Amino acid sequence: MKKILVFAGSIRSGALSAKLAAHVARELSLMDAGSTLISLADYELPIYNGDLEKEEGVPENAKKLKAQMLAHQGVYIASPEYNASMPPLLKNAIDWISRAKEPAGNPYKQCTFALGATSDGRFGGYRGLYHLRQSLELGLGALVIPEQVAIAGAGSAFDERGALKDEGNQKILKAQLEKLIAMAGVLV
Ligand SMILES: Cc1cc2nc3c(=O)[nH]c(=O)nc-3n(C[C@H](O)[C@H](O)[C@H](O)COP(=O)(O)O)c2cc1C
Repeated sequence: MKKILVFAGSIRSGALSAKLAAHVARELSLMDAGSTLISLADYELPIYNGDLEKEEGVPENAKKLKAQMLAHQGVYIASPEYNASMPPLLKNAIDWISRAKEPAGNPYKQCTFALGATSDGRFGGYRGLYHLRQSLELGLGALVIPEQVAIAGAGSAFDERGALKDEGNQKILKAQLEKLIAMAGVLV
């Protein structure tokens, strides 16, 4: 069974991106995949600083995050959009993981990635995914599937059970997850 790691690019309580991440994890579990939902709140990291890395090495939490990725064949990132880009929390985690030599292996080359965005605005946060995709693909050589979701009006897009209300959004997400499951593991 393909295993997919799922996390959001926000640790705010009630985060819309965390709602999407939780929904994705539940959907994956109903499909032909296992999922692990984590929160970056449990992997707190200082802002990357070359001096800090030189003096203290890569933080344990970055190594733990890297190990989490390596234990999965796919990674789903649900992100908010900050000023048409990705949030610093997410970029910082991506950067620290890229500096970790341990555990051995390169999760960016071994995992297949899929991206989703949420915003209460009408663009659904998709502009932030340009930069996230660029960093993963061009910066780190990752395979990021072309299908992506952007949930506009996300403040009212989920029902009381946390499921996506809109049928169109449900269909786009299902197709994306089917592709992710099909592609995950092809690199390992
Ligand atoms: C610094 C900052 C920049 C933001 N820029 C955007 C933006 O460019 N586009 C957008 O749709 N929302 C933007 N927002 C609003 C966020 O989408 C909103 O706060 C969202 O709820 C944050 O994601 P979360 O719910 O997953 O925590 C911004 C919020 C912050 C704090």
